[in-house]
Amino acid sequence: MNKTFKRALAALLCLCLLFGGASFASYAQTADDAVTRVSCTFSTDSKTTRNFCWYTKTATGSNVQIVKASPSGNSFDGALKFTGEKVTKFRGQYCHKVTATGLEAGTYYFYRVGDEKLGLWSEKGSFVTDDGDKAFSFLTIADVQASSDENFAHAALTMKAAIATDPNAEFTVNLGDFVNDDTNDEWDWFFKNFAFSNMNTTMAPVAGNHDGNITNKLNINVFNSMFNLTNDNTKSIVNWVNGVYYSFDYGNAHFIVLNTNDMYPMTQSQRNWIINDAKTSAADWKIVLMHRACYSVGKNINKPDTIIMRDVLLPLFDKAEIDLVYAGHDHTYYRSKQVKGDRPVKNVVYETKEYNGEQIEFAVNPEGSVHICPSTAGTKRYVLYEGIDPITECSAFEMSTRDKGGCFTTTTIDGNKLIVKSYLVDDETQEITEIDRYAIEKDISQSRVEKSDLPTSPAIDAVTGPVNFVYAFARMIFKYLFVLLPQAIRSKVK
Ligand SMILES: [Fe+2]
Repeated sequence: MNKTFKRALAALLCLCLLFGGASFASYAQTADDAVTRVSCTFSTDSKTTRNFCWYTKTATGSNVQIVKASPSGNSFDGALKFTGEKVTKFRGQYCHKVTATGLEAGTYYFYRVGDEKLGLWSEKGSFVTDDGDKAFSFLTIADVQASSDENFAHAALTMKAAIATDPNAEFTVNLGDFVNDDTNDEWDWFFKNFAFSNMNTTMAPVAGNHDGNITNKLNINVFNSMFNLTNDNTKSIVNWVNGVYYSFDYGNAHFIVLNTNDMYPMTQSQRNWIINDAKTSAADWKIVLMHRACYSVGKNINKPDTIIMRDVLLPLFDKAEIDLVYAGHDHTYYRSKQVKGDRPVKNVVYETKEYNGEQIEFAVNPEGSVHICPSTAGTKRYVLYEGIDPITECSAFEMSTRDKGGCFTTTTIDGNKLIVKSYLVDDETQEITEIDRYAIEKDISQSRVEKSDLPTSPAIDAVTGPVNFVYAFARMIFKYLFVLLPQAIRSKVK
């Protein structure tokens, strides 16, 4: 399937799901809502595999059927069939996980999940597999974090606007805090209101601190129970408890998804995994997706957990040569300058070039990473926090979206170009306005792969954990006393 036809089909499918096409009626209301919380996520190969997760009220079988998509196709005759091995009871409901393999690259598929013997099926969903070329785009939202059906529905308008803005986007990223109080009702409301998106694209979910966490009402193993994610780190007790980290390739980019709930003080196993994972990837672009932000202008940026986390992560991002870091948590919009060593990179060269009929300013072969916090898709929005260096020094653009609207970004990668555009969706009118953009062009002719096999066994955390914690805690206290407090006093005196 060539790219033009694929994009036309994608746009058609998106219009169907956005404007009420029968095939994409909003959610599985069949069989007493028997099949709920359906999601499609990345597995071991974005070209040929996908993971599925869903819930049932009773212990049914776990089957997935997949057929190649066509605009008029409603039949699952001749479908590829996949079966789950075990059903897990979680909070009174049954969690199903199935992995589909052997798919074709660059292909649109329809699927349904359920129990073949019972004839119990979800509504029809869809996804596209990576065609492996170097041109694709994806959508990003953060912090839906609603606690009522109404507020989840309002946040879903942000995702609908995102899909309408870039109907060719091939997957979505959700930067975490899917829910607020981590109740069964909230998860049901999230999956109900976002079914048009969750069921019709591949999602890369990121664990937020509200998505089940030992410090959040002792709700453990929640994130790993809501999505089917391919990883080894749930064997680690820390990550089994509070989140999952994993990575995937798409096109010519490598995506590293972190578990920032593991921030006291970021387990050594996750630290080592980041370096191994980034260094051994030959991808042209390396992108980190995480929940807590290293750079933001919300109220959380100078809390102890964030200070400890950024102290650990920023040197790793420099070492791993990360191009772009997306993070949430602080419910305000922030874009950094190119940063390296926790300071702005000097003498970045910018050139304005025509791209797809637009004049776009590109940072050319910049050093360091750019950090973007795309505020929130939801309605819980913060005012701007009075900045303290280096956050202020590293800031390129910041904005409170309070009393304005939900926020989303589109990210386009086209060979050696990466273009991020950020948008607001007006609360009242749903009018979509571009608020920020940033683009990078870089030489991708030499991909560097290095051997890196730092130990990542959870066993190393038993030894290094306490030592790391004491060291990180001491540095955090030092930073409060000798960096942040003097800055705060000086800014008050001014
Ligand atoms: Fe958060």
